[in-house]
Amino acid sequence: MTSVDERRLLYTLAKDYFSDSGCIIDGGAYLGSSSLALGLGLKHRNFPKRKIIHAFDQFIMNQVYIQHYLDQSDPLSKSVKPGDYVRSIYDRNTAEVSEYIMIHDGDVQATPWNGQPIEILFIDISKTPDINDYIITNWIPALLPEVGVLIQQDQIEENHVWIAITMEMLVDYFEFIDYTAYSSMVYRLKRTIPTRTLERCLQKNVTHQDREFYYKNFLNRFRSIGMGRFTGWRLGMVELGLASLYAFHIGDVEKAKYTLMTVAKQFAHVPDTMNRLAEIWRRLGNT
Ligand SMILES: C[S@@+](CC[C@H](N)C(=O)[O-])C[C@H]1O[C@@H](n2cnc3c(N)ncnc32)[C@H](O)[C@@H]1O
Repeated sequence: MTSVDERRLLYTLAKDYFSDSGCIIDGGAYLGSSSLALGLGLKHRNFPKRKIIHAFDQFIMNQVYIQHYLDQSDPLSKSVKPGDYVRSIYDRNTAEVSEYIMIHDGDVQATPWNGQPIEILFIDISKTPDINDYIITNWIPALLPEVGVLIQQDQIEENHVWIAITMEMLVDYFEFIDYTAYSSMVYRLKRTIPTRTLERCLQKNVTHQDREFYYKNFLNRFRSIGMGRFTGWRLGMVELGLASLYAFHIGDVEKAKYTLMTVAKQFAHVPDTMNRLAEIWRRLGNT
């Protein structure tokens, strides 16, 4: 599911950046491509064989994954159905680096983190605001100040707006490093985040006004110098996030429609954005 650039990023972080001052989290391991990239980075530097990578997943297939993210020609994958448990495919795909991986199998929200320091935190599991709360409560407090790298894989995508809102609320604590197309934002933690600041980011403490304010801040940041070099379909996903926020999280249908119409004018020539926009229109019709 991750792009080549993202896998290259994970490989390079494990091979050339990781200093062994904390562990590595692969949050959302699916069939193993992020685990494999991280594990190969360790292996290719001859890192001692220890369980450095903590991989989290429940390994249950759904229809979308089967339709878009499964190699139908693979003998182990071709008969997989929604609801199937696919840990064996993960195990096969990561066998080459299994000495480095501790697997946390099951619902991540039922698996509290033990507080061990984290040096590389790859998050590809923030699929709901509840899981985002888990990450704020369990993993971010353990990220090592100054050296800790956080990769938010779902941040540049119109449906996971809570990630951008959280990261914007924590903007004083994270240095933005880069963005990898489709769709990771990469950060370094500058200093310890006070507990009360993290609590403020939990969904129960974030008002609709906060959501709108912080998402718009993020949008301006993404449009501006630095990230502004990302235009076209990448920017389209972030712009559509505002419509998704109004439509599905704030419940302001008029603002959602106005935003969709504005985006439609600006991105009429970008098929990816127009397809995503049509999907939001469709869902809006059903709300
Ligand atoms: C986008 S995929 C991860 C892709 C993977 N990083 C890769 O490189 O291919 C997201 C994963 O999150 C997992 N996931 C979603 N919600 C979860 C939960 N509550 N507990 C455990 N795993 C979960 C799914 O099973 C899925 O495998």
